[in-house]
Amino acid sequence: MISAKILGVGSYVPPRIWKNDDLASLLDTSDEWIRQRTGIEQRHWVEGNVTTSDLAASATERACASAKIRVDEIDCIVFATLSPDHEFPGSGCFLQAKLGLSGVPAFDVRQQCSGFLYGLSLADQYVKSGMFRRVLVVGAEVHSKGLNKTPAGRDVTVLFGDGAGAVIVGPCEGSVTEKDSQIYSTHLHADGQFAKELWIAAPGMANGNERMNAAMVEEGLHYPKMNGKAVFMHASKRMPEAILEALEKNGKKVEDVDLFLFHQANLRINEMVGKQLGIPSEKIFNTIQSFANTTAATIPIGMDEAVKAGKLKKGMLVASAAFGSGFTWASTLFRW
Ligand code: ACO
Repeated sequence: MISAKILGVGSYVPPRIWKNDDLASLLDTSDEWIRQRTGIEQRHWVEGNVTTSDLAASATERACASAKIRVDEIDCIVFATLSPDHEFPGSGCFLQAKLGLSGVPAFDVRQQCSGFLYGLSLADQYVKSGMFRRVLVVGAEVHSKGLNKTPAGRDVTVLFGDGAGAVIVGPCEGSVTEKDSQIYSTHLHADGQFAKELWIAAPGMANGNERMNAAMVEEGLHYPKMNGKAVFMHASKRMPEAILEALEKNGKKVEDVDLFLFHQANLRINEMVGKQLGIPSEKIFNTIQSFANTTAATIPIGMDEAVKAGKLKKGMLVASAAFGSGFTWASTLFRW
């Protein structure tokens, strides 16, 4: 059996920063409200006609440099996003063209905040089966163009940032011991009965006899809607469960883990998860302060930032979990 590992990681965020104070008059909000309830201090938002696949292309180039491979060695593209360039085809195809990888398979994963871990799971299986050897898993989002930037949208709009993060997954070479870099396991879950607790209703084929019309725009159905309390409650329960599932599967304990990379929806969620599992705060690497919630890009951005900060070093055991719209949730245990 071939084992798979993460060969390299890269990320890219657009340069323009919006501090909480920059949103105060636009959204009738305040730095104090946002910071206290979410931990967010700022987010990056694109300008002009920058697209999701543009961000993904920049993150991919950096991931390839980190993995010490050429872009043309990628043999499969898995693109996780909820903010695609267009409704169809998938953004994986637009990215593939930008990378000049004609002929290489490209597809999208639509699992929102869990999208990167769902994609990583696919890449892990492809590499283990021997089907592909250099799988790009990229999470990228341009949320800013789809948010309601009036006071009516403030509960959701303050939470999201734009950005991209990518990894290259490939086979471990030679015989692999427990202490070598590898992905030990991935774990995926969903519960569709909560699909409408965090969603965008339109455009969509379930909206009567038209996928989109002026009345739907008037009603704001094209903006994300969230039951914040339900998301908070489920995320605080599902992420610890998913971490324990990954540890149990591999005969490990919480204290064996060197670093936890959680999805970044709300600092308070991660503090609760840490408390439930008894994780010392220095082992949880948070990025929400600087980037807000970048959905599918969050975990690879966190991974890259942890490397840059010297918090993620070769040989470390890492547990990662995400929760998001769907509801979907997922976890992985890997050695860096
Ligand atoms: N600025 C100022 N006031 C605001 C804002 C804002 N941005 N947003 C809402 N308010 C007001 C509300 O209008 C309400 O006012 P009222 O009491 O006069 O009616 C008050 O603040 C409290 O609103 P709540 O929605 O009850 O605030 P809550 O304490 O639940 O916090 C929050 C909201 C932070 C979103 C919380 O529910 C949460 O963290 N939920 C988790 C969901 C999440 O983080 N989702 C991110 C995306 S999903 C994902 O990635 C998993």
